[in-house]
Amino acid sequence: MFPAERPRRLRGTKALRRLVAETSLEPRHLVLPMFVADGIDSPREITSMPGVYQHTLDTLRAAATDAVRAGVGGLMLFGVPRPEDKDARGSGATDPDGILNRGLRALRDELGDDTVLMADTCLDEFTSHGHCGVLTAGGAVDNDATLTRYVDMAVAQAESGAHLLGPSGMMDGQVAAIREGLDDAGHADTGILAYSAKYASAFYGPFREAVGSSLEGDRRTYQQDPANRRESLREVDLDLDEGADLVMVKPAMSYLDVLREVADMSTVPVAAYQISGEYSMITAAAQNGWIDRDAAVLESLLSIRRAGADVVLTYWAAEAAGWL
Ligand code: PBG
Repeated sequence: MFPAERPRRLRGTKALRRLVAETSLEPRHLVLPMFVADGIDSPREITSMPGVYQHTLDTLRAAATDAVRAGVGGLMLFGVPRPEDKDARGSGATDPDGILNRGLRALRDELGDDTVLMADTCLDEFTSHGHCGVLTAGGAVDNDATLTRYVDMAVAQAESGAHLLGPSGMMDGQVAAIREGLDDAGHADTGILAYSAKYASAFYGPFREAVGSSLEGDRRTYQQDPANRRESLREVDLDLDEGADLVMVKPAMSYLDVLREVADMSTVPVAAYQISGEYSMITAAAQNGWIDRDAAVLESLLSIRRAGADVVLTYWAAEAAGWL
């Protein structure tokens, strides 16, 4: 007559639900990606990411300080050079006075060791062609020549004060090359947050506007095919062997299955990146009144944690930290 099992009993009150919640979301789990732009006088809102800004050095410092006060676990910085400062090699990435390195120095100077300062270690923001590496004469992305550029970039970022470097270009051997380069330059304590499983995703669209990238073609010769799962385990294995201190899966919401498998096999902490398109989709639906924004944001973050992420990079990090 009556159900023998009644799972609803544990859902009856808010206090009961709180007692038995399996997954937690705390400010320390959240990392805020930030953009610092050269040659602008005031912060510029990214059209496709309402509420996210390209910062000046001054507003970067202020916004970062607010985020750290709200309790976020760390900051991930991207640089947006002036278009005329881009070239085929991405020289601005290795220039100590390039915008990303200046931004890192400003934040380290302002915040010291009160937060974990991370840097995107990739050339795409700095190259005129928009690819994550340098090109061969034939226009292909040259893996090994790119590694040399990443090493120089990594050393410049470590010297500018980054605690963790985030190689996101998906070149083979990038973690090993950067690790060795950092060690040789006396930066054995600078860590690597490896973008290990990074897919060629349509959801990066708004990011291209965020960093003013003018990519010719696509990234399918280096980023992974969304059809593949096993390949991610191989990429993570390699990055662990090469010395990654944390590994990351990106994007997050379309790859929660991959994230769960990586979390189950990784011997280091696992991060996931809730990327620009994920931010834009929820924001746009909420602006249309189609979903409850704050609830959708929290649910999305909780789902990424539930899938196994220790750390979640999200453009809502500061705001969500404030709610929690
Ligand atoms: C590459 C990089 C990208 C993102 C982070 N690092 C762009 C890409 O691979 O095309 C995307 C982040 C986002 O979409 O929020 N430097």
